[in-house]
Amino acid sequence: MTIASNALRWRVGHSFPPTNLEKVMTEKREHWGSRLGFILTAAGSAIGLGTMWKLPYVVGQNGGGAFVLLFLLFNLVVGIPYFIAELMLGRHAQRGAVGTFYKMTGDEDSSWGLIGWLSVCASFLVMGWYCVVAGWGLNYVLMTLTEVFQGKNAEQIGTMFQTFRDSGDLNLLWQVVFIAINATIVLKGLSDGIEKWSKLMTSGLFAALICLVCYSMTLSGFEQAVEYILYPDWSAVTSNTVLEALGLALFTLSLGYGVMVTYGSYMKPEDDIPQTSMIVGGANFIVSLMIALMIFPMVFTFGLEPTSGEGLIFQTLPYVFSMLPGSTILSLLFFLLLIFAAITSSVSMFEVTVANFTDLYKWDRRKAVWVTCAIGFAIGLPTAFQGSSWFFPSWEGVFGMQFMPTTDVLINWLLVIVAFSTCVFVGWRLDEKQLKTGFGTKSALVGLYPVWRFLVRWAVPICICVIILNKTGILDFERISRWF
Ligand code: PHE
Repeated sequence: MTIASNALRWRVGHSFPPTNLEKVMTEKREHWGSRLGFILTAAGSAIGLGTMWKLPYVVGQNGGGAFVLLFLLFNLVVGIPYFIAELMLGRHAQRGAVGTFYKMTGDEDSSWGLIGWLSVCASFLVMGWYCVVAGWGLNYVLMTLTEVFQGKNAEQIGTMFQTFRDSGDLNLLWQVVFIAINATIVLKGLSDGIEKWSKLMTSGLFAALICLVCYSMTLSGFEQAVEYILYPDWSAVTSNTVLEALGLALFTLSLGYGVMVTYGSYMKPEDDIPQTSMIVGGANFIVSLMIALMIFPMVFTFGLEPTSGEGLIFQTLPYVFSMLPGSTILSLLFFLLLIFAAITSSVSMFEVTVANFTDLYKWDRRKAVWVTCAIGFAIGLPTAFQGSSWFFPSWEGVFGMQFMPTTDVLINWLLVIVAFSTCVFVGWRLDEKQLKTGFGTKSALVGLYPVWRFLVRWAVPICICVIILNKTGILDFERISRWF
């Protein structure tokens, strides 16, 4: 046992075997109100800024259709099998991300608990920048309503974004508003808060998305966009594209952050995990495609570049909207969509840490939520002040990249470690009986059990190992691919 886990154990103060109080608390765990509620909540967590903000520009920079195909492949081979693994762990243990490992090993001191803690750290780190960028979305709703984009050219709209980005106070204001929205929802608990609001917002998101895709279908750039998204240009694919597609498949399914372990802990024994996972994974992929089908026709109609990077949503799109008929409604629908997607994802990060604190330290929900908000707020400050105050603007000069991408590097490391260890834990440490019952003997997809078992034991850890080898420079795939 490591010193770190000893220290954590001291804080946790759990006894093993569990005391009566612990048993009662575990037994009383809340469950999802309905299957549909869970599906929409999990899909809401999956569909977020990664799907709406990151995926489109990464598709644009990585050869369109080829990237989409790789993304689909990794969803099927890595994402969904690992999604099933996280859900079944949580359901089995009926505890949060850390407690799950203690329970599954039958040892409240187990070093495996560290994997849970790493996922909690990843959740906190991502929560930091997520609340700031989602705050930008709130700001853009206000900018849309005040019609400031009307009559401006692309350059002026670009400058507006930069000015906003460099205004620490404004970033801070919207970050606080966004955190307050999350706190209000998560304070209400599982069914009255997270499930209720995720159901509403995810349904709203689907409706808004369908309207916007229909609108995009009427634009002259639609055909070009379809070709761009579906026609694979393999010459644009590099080893980095492959790794990016794999990383994004994990990120957009919220994997490696303890989210699905926590959400799984609210499932009932009779819930069909494989089928639900397929539905959520499928919905996430279809929504990703729809978002691309909504954005790219607009970009192509005005002869703009799909490769414009992070500014695609906050610079290119507002300009495009301002030139289209019905611009205010369009822009409003789009940024509301973005905010709904962001909220349903961020509440899942909050719930990871809240469930963990209430499970391990027996805090009440209120205290756990406030502590989570305070930590999330503090971690977000550097991103909010990245362009304006303190030493954050000079961060780039020192580290060669801005603060947000620097934390991204850290998060990505945490994720690969968590994902790899969790798969090894599920695939190799659990016994056959635990695996079978976890997968569900009555599942509609029970026939796929051997395939899933193979993927979790081999395909997922190997794919993740490849990322680790590439990241550490032990294997340079760029060089290897040049040999062929
Ligand atoms: N899946 C979310 C997205 O695509 C991101 C996320 C990561 C949500 C981690 C929860 C936890 O934006």
